[in-house]
Amino acid sequence: MTVAYAPGKVILFGEHAVVYGQPAIAVPVTQVQARATVETGPEGQGITIVAEDLEQSYTLEQAPPDDALRAIVVSTLEHVGVGTKHDLAITISSTIPIARGLGSGAAISTAIVRALGQHFEHLLSPQTISNLVYETEKIHHGTPSGIDNTVIAFEKPVYFVKGQKIEIFSVETPFLLAIADTGIASPTKIAVSHVRRAWERERDKYEEIFDEIGTIAEMGRCAIERGEIEPVGRLMNENLRLLQLMGVSSPELEGLVEAAREGGALGAKLSGAGRGGNIIALITQETRSRVELMLRLAGAKDIIVTEVS
Ligand code: MEV
Repeated sequence: MTVAYAPGKVILFGEHAVVYGQPAIAVPVTQVQARATVETGPEGQGITIVAEDLEQSYTLEQAPPDDALRAIVVSTLEHVGVGTKHDLAITISSTIPIARGLGSGAAISTAIVRALGQHFEHLLSPQTISNLVYETEKIHHGTPSGIDNTVIAFEKPVYFVKGQKIEIFSVETPFLLAIADTGIASPTKIAVSHVRRAWERERDKYEEIFDEIGTIAEMGRCAIERGEIEPVGRLMNENLRLLQLMGVSSPELEGLVEAAREGGALGAKLSGAGRGGNIIALITQETRSRVELMLRLAGAKDIIVTEVS
């Protein structure tokens, strides 16, 4: 049996604007992960996908044509050059909450690609894995920028511009993020299409917002590379203000952001598509427990603390 994993992710700066060509920064979150196993099944069984968490099991033939899991299995087997005539059981499970901006779809696909690559002893580079997963992301998201598959396949902090070569950059001084969940599921596809419709109605306003967010992402990268943590917090606050103007924040997200700031976070913002999902707050060892307490009191359903390094 082969086993492979993939981490979750959060976007530090630049969600939504990245879909329109602006730079964005994302980091892997290894405290949560997707897992895929591949094992040879009984002869004549064909390929079975077992989604453990959903208690679902189906064969490739039974899967609807737009099934994202079927799509990633087929495209990976084709890429590896072995075709789909095998007797395999592919089992997936994940601790990454679904539709919360943590990249669960991309992580599950990445784990499947890695497990299949290992099973057929085919070395797949992070870029190849990312490209394969990107195709499946289109089923989940419609018009994905590609940032989720990139950060998850490379498992490094990335500075990402759609259609350009990925840039991995160095974090001069590691820092802590608290990731707090509103408990509200918010499919990326819906938030992204809401922004698209708004952009079509008011192009000038939205282009201006996207430009400003792009500048923030660039400044954020510089601050991180120089090890200047406080400006990172201020830029997170500023990025949130622009996401609010874009209409993707929500009272629940705002409540958690306020709580984190009251607890002493250096900055906080929603992360991912918004309208639900998670916020991220920049904390230190000193402010960590107070921020966590304030977040819990404000109703956070789950809190993950991760180090960006
Ligand atoms: C989703 O993690 C981030 C968005 O910017 C969508 C995308 O980049 O594809 C909202």
